[in-house]
Amino acid sequence: MKNICILGSTGSIGFQSMDVISKYPEILRVYSIAAYGRNPNSIIAQIKRYNPKYVAVFDEQTAKKISSEVNVKIFTGMDGLMKLVEDDNVDLVISAMVGFVGLKPTLYALEKGKYVALANKESVVVGGPLIQKYIDKIIPVDSEHSAIFQLIENKNKSDIKEIVITASGGPFWKKKESQLKNVRIEDALKHPVWKMGNKITIDSATLMNKALEIIEAYFLFSLPYDKIKAVIHPQSYIHSLVIFNDNNVFAHIAKPDMRIPITYALFYPHRVENQFSEFSFADLYNKRLEFYEIPSHFRSIKFAYSVLSNGGVFPTIMNASNEVAVDLFIQRKIGFTDIFNIVEDTLCCYGGPNYDDLNLEILEQVDSWARRTAVDLAKKSKIFIN
Ligand SMILES: NC(=O)c1ccc[n+]([C@@H]2O[C@H](COP(=O)([O-])OP(=O)(O)OC[C@H]3O[C@@H](n4cnc5c(N)ncnc54)[C@H](OP(=O)(O)O)[C@@H]3O)[C@@H](O)[C@H]2O)c1
Repeated sequence: MKNICILGSTGSIGFQSMDVISKYPEILRVYSIAAYGRNPNSIIAQIKRYNPKYVAVFDEQTAKKISSEVNVKIFTGMDGLMKLVEDDNVDLVISAMVGFVGLKPTLYALEKGKYVALANKESVVVGGPLIQKYIDKIIPVDSEHSAIFQLIENKNKSDIKEIVITASGGPFWKKKESQLKNVRIEDALKHPVWKMGNKITIDSATLMNKALEIIEAYFLFSLPYDKIKAVIHPQSYIHSLVIFNDNNVFAHIAKPDMRIPITYALFYPHRVENQFSEFSFADLYNKRLEFYEIPSHFRSIKFAYSVLSNGGVFPTIMNASNEVAVDLFIQRKIGFTDIFNIVEDTLCCYGGPNYDDLNLEILEQVDSWARRTAVDLAKKSKIFIN
């Protein structure tokens, strides 16, 4: 029996992970779950259904409310997340919280020798150099990175000419720059292919999700960043491609269903039968598989290469300012294209040192600086709506 700890159990990846685990009751067990606590009923329902031994609810008030309704040990705050992952009985941690806050528990899980099924891309973007030390314990969950992971297994890195990550393009990739300015939050949340949490859905619309994934691939696969490319592939059937030096090209095809990479990560290195989105070649009959260059006015991609070239704390600044900007957009305080402006201005503003030797404390300080600066810049540039 494999004991699984799920950080971010009430999110899109969390739900799908529990769905997968429930299909293999003889082999996998939901041992512990964690969420922020925005939806207490959802946590209570998960406790009743999966009977986890431990629960962590970041928000103390919500934890109290849940404690009064169900009989289970509940930890709170960051300490609570740390308690869950350090438990000797945990075999694998699914890191599926959203945002930078996932870095600390993910890193701690790795330090404690746990295998980590990693969906929380922000923690790799920010803490890449720290996480790389434990690369043998990480199984990527992001579909594109799961694809590359499988495609390059047992291959020589020096034989790789290029890896190509595909992007669905989100709802707006066909729009001209002038048409992006006034897009509404409701439209940005309508992803054409994937049903995901709000933050990643907005990131898909700005293509910041792809920018984060380029950085994620850089740290996970230790390839020069000029060998990492991204293209739009609206059908999302091909998740990534690897081009080798001899011009043999390998592509990974699967239906767009996150339960496929989640199952792969849960059972790695074994492959098990699953009932999700079975592939039949007939699915591709009369289906066009299209590929397009990413339009340059989606500036996120430019930011990704720029922060990789600068290295050090720059990916942290890009990530933090984007988290702030997405939040402001979701609250209807700024317009869609202001997200690009805030990230660019925050990156330009940084005048501090670019540390060679990163640690969590430095990353937390720079993350806080970037969050404060992003809000200040937004206020000063008078882009706030109201
Ligand atoms: N969704 C996808 O298909 C997909 C695909 C590839 C990669 N990813 C990546 O996977 C991660 C999760 O994405 P998602 O779409 O599942 O996000 P989501 O639906 O927004 O869920 C986020 C989860 O994180 C929890 N959380 C947030 N802050 C927390 C805190 N301080 N302590 C404990 N839990 C906290 C949330 O709890 P509450 O519910 O209480 O807020 C929720 O359970 C992201 O990094 C995303 O980029 C997602």
